[in-house]
Amino acid sequence: MVTADYSDLIEHARAAMSRAYAPYSNFPVGAAILTDTGNIYSGCNVENAAYPLGNCAEASAISSMIMGGDNSIAAIAVAGFGDELCTPCGGCRQRIREFADEATPVLIGDNNTIRYTSTLGDLLPLSFGPDNLN
Ligand code: THU
Repeated sequence: MVTADYSDLIEHARAAMSRAYAPYSNFPVGAAILTDTGNIYSGCNVENAAYPLGNCAEASAISSMIMGGDNSIAAIAVAGFGDELCTPCGGCRQRIREFADEATPVLIGDNNTIRYTSTLGDLLPLSFGPDNLN
């Protein structure tokens, strides 16, 4: 069982946000994953002149996690500016679902502050995941 330090996790997401490549939307996003093994992986959005090819921050963080040899998300933090909460997009909710369950905390923040704490189950109810294929 991991004792999560969520303020540390949102700090990692904020640091990742500062590395975003978002020249088209000018909307930098950072994500940080705490794994069940206690490791932290982060990622930022990476846009492309061919707009649909851009990657979300959560997808980048998941790629980093897999490359690091982990595959179980204990908590995930997402950081982005704006009046509205920078909640994970629908596609990223499903990406997170692959490696998390309904109780997994999803922390939404901005510049080093957690603004809202949710769970994956609240963001993606009645989800379809790996167990559905058993
Ligand atoms: N974005 C993310 O990185 N994660 C989300 O969950 C929401 C949106 C990025 C994609 C795009 O680069 C920019 O934010 C504007 O949509």
